[in-house]
Formats: sequence, structure tokens, C-alpha cells
Amino acid sequence: MASAPLGDDVYREDPTVNRLEEQAAEILGKEAALLCVSGSMGNLVAMLAWVPRGGEIIGGESSHSLEGEAGGYAVLVGASARGVKRGPDGTLPPDAIAAAFRDPSQDVHDPISSLVTIENTYNASGGLPLTVEYTEAVAAVAHERGVPLHLDGARLFNAVVSLGVPAAELCRPADSVMIALSKGLACPVGSIVAGSAEFVRRARRARKLVGGGMRQAGIIAAAGVLALRYGPDGMIDRMAEDHANARRLAEGLASFPFISVDLSRVRTNFVMFRVLPTSEAEHPLVARERFVAALDALGVRTFAHVDGQIRAVTHYNISAGDIDRALEIVPQAWRAIGGGVPAGVAGAALLT
Ligand SMILES: Cc1ncc(COP(=O)(O)O)c(C=O)c1O
Repeated sequence: MASAPLGDDVYREDPTVNRLEEQAAEILGKEAALLCVSGSMGNLVAMLAWVPRGGEIIGGESSHSLEGEAGGYAVLVGASARGVKRGPDGTLPPDAIAAAFRDPSQDVHDPISSLVTIENTYNASGGLPLTVEYTEAVAAVAHERGVPLHLDGARLFNAVVSLGVPAAELCRPADSVMIALSKGLACPVGSIVAGSAEFVRRARRARKLVGGGMRQAGIIAAAGVLALRYGPDGMIDRMAEDHANARRLAEGLASFPFISVDLSRVRTNFVMFRVLPTSEAEHPLVARERFVAALDALGVRTFAHVDGQIRAVTHYNISAGDIDRALEIVPQAWRAIGGGVPAGVAGAALLT
């Protein structure tokens, strides 16, 4: 980063940004790519590029772009959102996406369905990797109705590693894709939006509109150039370590009688789990809040996530040793909130 050749990226004169954008377009199998400040900005410029004012975006309820980006689709795009419920396998059923489309030619009340968006991996479903076949099925629903598909791939490379499928293949059915450089790829800053040359031209203009045109951005892009590579020199294949650490954590958590975790859902770098209330009178969400706070106070950071669950995430800076240390702290946190365990219950020894 310190030695990156620099220029003015607003005039497309920063050679390091240009190099990253070309590299990203190639790895994602798209015509062109654009460096953005954050994943939120990447999703926002994609929505600005695709969706007219008064348009409606169909996506997952609890999806990041619809519920976790300060309502940018409403404030800056002028769009409404239609959230689709997750099915039992954690994906958004393609027929539910189809049913979410509106037909304003029949009914003047309806907004205009303008974009479908899905996440891979799907954050609200515990980092579930979505297959090429699933993505194709959703793209078919969108394209049959004349609407593009945007893939929020903040953690796309976790899916790539988990499924063993190249990124270009996973992105092929989508018209645009956003990937984060600052998550599993471990760069300090940045995200990429990719798609056709015409889409990226519109997204570049939208990026300028929201103040995201940066000057000597090669400082940021240089880390992306190194990270966004397959093989031992890049940061993609390394994510298998994060997945192994997540499994190690999940298996350790499963041994505690006061925690429930579905090991079959631990597919990438997320572990979603629940903690029992410490007494019959305690509301589960209160128990969760107290437990997350107790873990935090003891140095283990987790996150209160959807459906009353707690989310733990592994990444480049978390080692197997850190996981073992976290597993020592978990029963301490449980005791700190007054949790006990009935004698004879499996795992009781861990609490003594
Ligand atoms: C699925 C998903 N999309 C987009 C983002 C936004 O990324 P950023 O935090 O870089 O704005 C996140 C952030 O956690 C995310 O989980």
C-alpha cells in the first residue's frame, strides 16, 4: 500500500485502482468493475444504477441492503422494498420471489418491481452459501419479468471456498455483483461492484453522486490487488481456515448444555447459536442480551442477530488458539449472568 503507484481515480488515472478493477472484473467474470468505499456504497450505487424513483426492490427480509444500510434505497434511490421470507432451507424460495412481483399495468396502486437482490453468503441465514443452480433459478424469475438480479456478495468468496465453485460461475446468473474487500479478504477498506460496461458506467456516475469518487485511492486498491487472488499468494483460499475455525467453535459450543447450535448450518465463517434463559422467568431475549454483554466484558465479541440468535464470526485475525480461549470464556460468561446447570446434565463438568 505504501509503494502503490497513484493517480487521480476520479479521472481514472490511478493505475493501482485500474489494475484492481480489471482484476476484479476478470475474477468475477464481468465486463467491468468499480471500487467503492464500502459494501453499503456498492449496493447503493448498484440500486441507483438499476432502479428508477418509485421502483420497488425485492429482496430477503432481514437482508443487509434492505434492513442494514440506513434505508439508502428509500432515501437516495426513492424506491420501496418488498421483503421475502426465508424458506426452511434458509434461502428465499424462487416462487416466493415470483409472487412478490407486482403488475402496475393492472393496478395503479402498485409500485414498479425493478430489481431482485439476494445475498451470497446469506447473512441472515447464518452465512449460508447459495449454489449456482439456486442463483440461476432466481435470475430466471427476475429475467422472465424483465428485471435485473443484483448479487450482494459481501461474503461471496466464503461461498466460493465452501462450495468449491469459481466466483465467475457463482456470479454468472447475476447482472451485477458487489463483493467486500474488507471482510474475509481481510483488506482494511473497500468493496467492488461489477457487471456490464454500461452498468458500471451508471454505477460510476452514482458513486460520484453520493460522494464516493476518491482521488489517490490506489492506497486502498493495493491491498485488494494482493487479496483478490486464488492460490497461496491471495486471500481467497485462506478462508478455508476461517471455516475450520468456525466449525471448531460450533463443535465446542455444542458441548455446553445451556447453548443450542445447529452444526449442519455451519457452512462458512458464521456460527449462529442460542443461549437458554437462566431461569423460567427470564425472557430469552433478555438472557441473550445479558450473555452477549458478559461475553463482551470477558473479551469475546459476538452479535445479537436475527431470530433470537447470537452470531459469532471468524476471520483472518482469529486463530484456532483464539477459538479455544473463547470456549474457555463461554462458561465463565454463563456463570457471570447467574446461569447454572442441573446435576447430571451432559457438559455439567465444564461448568464446575
Ligand atoms: C451481506 C452484507 N452486505 C453488505 C454489507 C455492507 O458492507 P459495509 O459494512 O462494508 O458497508 C454487509 C456488512 O456487514 C453485509 O453483511
